[in-house]
Order: sequence, then C-alpha cells, then structure tokens
Amino acid sequence: MAIDKKTIKSYDDYALKWAERMRSGKNIAHKFLEKPAMYKKLPDLKDKSVLCIGCGTGEECEHLKSLGAKRVIGIDISKGLIDFAKKSYPDLEFQVMDMEKLNFADDSFDFVYSGLTMHYVKDWTKTLQGVYKILKKGGTFLFSTHHPVSWGAETNRSKEKYSSLLGYEKYKDGKCEVFGSYLNTKKINDIMFNEFNAIDFPDIKVTYYHRPLSNIIGDILKSGFMIMDFIEPKPLKSIIKNGGPGFYKRYSKIPLFMIFELKKV
Ligand SMILES: C[S@@+](CC[C@H](N)C(=O)[O-])C[C@H]1O[C@@H](n2cnc3c(N)ncnc32)[C@H](O)[C@@H]1O
Repeated sequence: MAIDKKTIKSYDDYALKWAERMRSGKNIAHKFLEKPAMYKKLPDLKDKSVLCIGCGTGEECEHLKSLGAKRVIGIDISKGLIDFAKKSYPDLEFQVMDMEKLNFADDSFDFVYSGLTMHYVKDWTKTLQGVYKILKKGGTFLFSTHHPVSWGAETNRSKEKYSSLLGYEKYKDGKCEVFGSYLNTKKINDIMFNEFNAIDFPDIKVTYYHRPLSNIIGDILKSGFMIMDFIEPKPLKSIIKNGGPGFYKRYSKIPLFMIFELKKV
C-alpha cells in the first residue's frame, strides 16, 4: 500500500519547517542517534553512483556527495520537500518519485541509502524488489527504520504525560492487562516532534506502519538480498548535554530505530 496522502500533504506543507529543524540540529533523534550510526556504516563512496530514497530536504544527499560520490540522486514522494532540496543544493539531482515505483535502469547504482523512510509503506516487497533491480551486483542497500519494539508499544499522550508501553501486568486473581501489540501489523497515525504540544512547531501528521521483525526479515529474504549487518543503535552520550538527558535514558535501553545493511550478491 502506498504512502497515505495526508502524510505527503504534511511534508509538502511543512518543507521549510522540516528543513530548518534538520539543519539546526534540533532533531536530536537524528543528530545523536540515527545519523551517526548510519554514517558510520557508509562504504567508500569515491566515484560511486548513489541513490538516496526518502531524501526529504536533501541534507543526507549533500553528505553522501561530500564523501566523493560521482553521482548522487535524491528521491522523495513529497514535491514540497524536493522543491526545497533543489533550491538548497542546486548542484545535486533530485526527483519526485515513489520508492514503490522506482524508475531507473537496472544495475545503475553502486549504493542505495535510505534514512527513516521504509516504515511509511505497509508492504516492503515492491521497494525491496525495485532496489534489488537497480543496484549493481555486489551493491549495498543501507537503510534505517523504526524499531518494532518501540512502535509495537501502546502510546498515550496528554498535555502532562507521554507513555509508550509494551508488556503486561497480571494479578493474582487472573486479571491481565496487556500494553501494545508487537506481533501484529498496525497502521499508526502520529504527530511528529510535538509530544506535548510544547514547542513552536506545526503538527506534522504522519501515518506509518508497525510490523514485527519476522515479517520484515521475511520480506528481505524473499527479495534476494543477503543481510550483512543489523544494528540497534544507542544514542551518543553527548546528547545528554544537548537537551536530551531523558532521550538518552530511554533510548540507551529501549531501541528506537534499527539499521539493515543488505547486499545484492
Ligand atoms: C522521516 S522523513 C526522513 C527524511 C530524511 N531521510 C532524513 O532522515 O532526514 C521520511 C521521508 O520519506 C518520504 N517518503 C515517504 N514515503 C515515501 C515513498 N513511498 N517514496 C519516497 N519517499 C517517501 C517522506 O516524504 C519524507 O521525506
């Protein structure tokens, strides 16, 4: 199933705000957790052709290009984000494209990168098959996505409290209360960044999908890719001094994201 239309509209409408947040370093989940772990896994990109899927406003593409890649193409389903990326990085190539309908020649990329985008589609088959086709033999697909342990949890938000629970409480009298549902696929309607409506930021309403690991790994194995590495990153300690002591406490124990390194053999 393709990405929800309201999610595309959210990104289109808030392209400028999104870019400001990405470039200011205020998105601590990116700056101190996901990007350092992803960038640590980058191969030698010198003279390589690279595709960046779900490139948003283009920051990752600029980074990949700065490492010596010959060609970097960024694609995203949001025209608003792609227009902004084109204006910001006129020397790079960007296209509006759905990752479920990749339109490139077979065997055309050495490396495909995707940061926090896979969970926007319910079924990964089309994307994985598409990436497999356009990668050269021996090429790598590196992507980060939501960790199902966090997204299988039951969340509740109020002005005072945000909770994310996966587990159960059982009592002597046989009663049992279960929080969350890891083993079942579910659609999640979420609001990005603004758990308590506490910051001056528009509500970016997005929809994504939770799937258990067995489901995810099953799709990967069916696509023909070999799994080379699997990472459950912890935040950098420096996040504590940069506004994220609570974030550090939570996500050095509970996985928020995960990273797969796949190879076309
Ligand atoms: C959380 S943002 C990540 C942006 C960027 N990769 C980063 O990490 O800063 C997810 C991005 O995926 C894009 N996206 C969602 N579904 C997509 C699809 N089917 N094809 C291409 N891009 C998609 C969204 O428009 C958005 O830019």
